[in-house]
Amino acid sequence: MFTVFLLLVAAAAAALALPTGQLDARATSPWCSGLGPGAFDSAENFTLAAYNTTLPNANATGAPLVLGQAGAVDGAEFEVLSTWATYSYNDWPTLSLSAGALIPNSQYGARTTDANVTSGSPIVFVTSVDAPAPVQIYCAVADIDPTGGGEYPLLSLNGDTDGFALCLNEIGAYEQNNIIWQPTPNNGGEYVYDTCYPVNIQILGLNN
Ligand SMILES: *[C@@H]1O[C@H](CO)[C@@H](O)[C@H](O)[C@H]1NC(C)=O
Ligand SMILES: *[C@@H]1O[C@H](CO)[C@@H](O)[C@H](O)[C@H]1NC(C)=O
Ligand SMILES: *[C@@H]1O[C@H](CO)[C@@H](O)[C@H](O)[C@H]1NC(C)=O
Ligand SMILES: *[C@@H]1O[C@H](CO)[C@@H](O)[C@H](O)[C@H]1NC(C)=O
Repeated sequence: MFTVFLLLVAAAAAALALPTGQLDARATSPWCSGLGPGAFDSAENFTLAAYNTTLPNANATGAPLVLGQAGAVDGAEFEVLSTWATYSYNDWPTLSLSAGALIPNSQYGARTTDANVTSGSPIVFVTSVDAPAPVQIYCAVADIDPTGGGEYPLLSLNGDTDGFALCLNEIGAYEQNNIIWQPTPNNGGEYVYDTCYPVNIQILGLNN
């Protein structure tokens, strides 16, 4: 907790040290860096959906995503982002973005936070009474091109909206189609690489 406090103080000091004209934390925060003027790092109560970037889409919103189970250890439970079509429970009906942290909102009052994501791994969350401090790696990017473009803001991770894919964790009765960040064939059996296809993660329910 004390470490978190120090980090926050450091972040605030860094923000104050910025020259005038660059004080917009949304545009200058490291997690939104390089994403342009449509980027924002805080929003409440939205849902997510996976929109194919190479394959056809059945509609403009995409496949609804929910928090799917990803195992547990003593005192903590892990979740990933799964398609509702393959994991039809929804204990976290909405999520919020809080200064770059992606926080699922539990309908049962569980404390769930995002965790760091490494290349080749799922987007992961931790549920625990003493869940770790959230990580600030996400941003939202609205398409502000006046001539058109995407209808919904996209989620980015580490400043990139294009690294997400949906991959089956296994093929069989309990298969779950989960979001993986930059999938790789060398994944230790965590998912079936041949089933992966690239998606954008659309943020629904803010203005639309
Ligand atoms: C988000 O949902 C919470 C819980 O229902 C509510 O208290 C809050 O006002 C909502 N925020 C917005 C911006 O709608
Ligand atoms: C994206 O492509 C996959 C594989 O063809 C398909 O199952 C899924 O329904 C598509 N998503 C949408 C939103 O249509
Ligand atoms: C859009 O298509 C996906 C994939 O077929 C489906 O899961 C989803 O329910 C559809 N959404 C709407 C709003 O019809
Ligand atoms: C989080 O993951 C990134 C790679 O995606 C890595 O560079 C970074 O050091 C990690 N941060 C922490 C606090 O583990």
